[in-house]
Amino acid sequence: ALERTYIMIKPNAVAERHVGDIIARIERTGLSIERMELAVLTEEQAEANYAEHVEKPFFRELVDFITSGPVVKMVVSGESAIKKMRTLMGATNPIDAAPGTIRGDFGLDVAANVIHGSDSPEAAEREIALFFGEE
Ligand code: CMP
Repeated sequence: ALERTYIMIKPNAVAERHVGDIIARIERTGLSIERMELAVLTEEQAEANYAEHVEKPFFRELVDFITSGPVVKMVVSGESAIKKMRTLMGATNPIDAAPGTIRGDFGLDVAANVIHGSDSPEAAEREIALFFGEE
């Protein structure tokens, strides 16, 4: 199906100047970048985004990290965009991510895992609404 997904390049990858490389990889898949913006997330946005992790021991670390510097927010669209982006990103923990995937090539630890992508159409719509203020 034609899908939209919310993609976010995390602060460590922006600071390490991997943005251009990551965008090139996304474009090479044939998916389209519909919206894109560099921004520093507010504490409120970060806490809302990670609400499902509020009980986890790493919740505060997660919020502090994701608000520590600018991120690149994107809406990426195309056929099976959610699954395609998850394949391109690789496993959540960079230690498990295959070489050639974004996390496999640029990631070192599970907190600073380079990039986020929605894991379902419902999550995509919620995240796009949260980060781009869409309906
Ligand atoms: P993300 O896909 O953005 O959403 C949930 C995040 O939780 C995930 O990326 C990881 O970066 C983070 N995460 C998962 N496990 C841990 C952990 N043990 N310590 C810190 N962060 C974690």
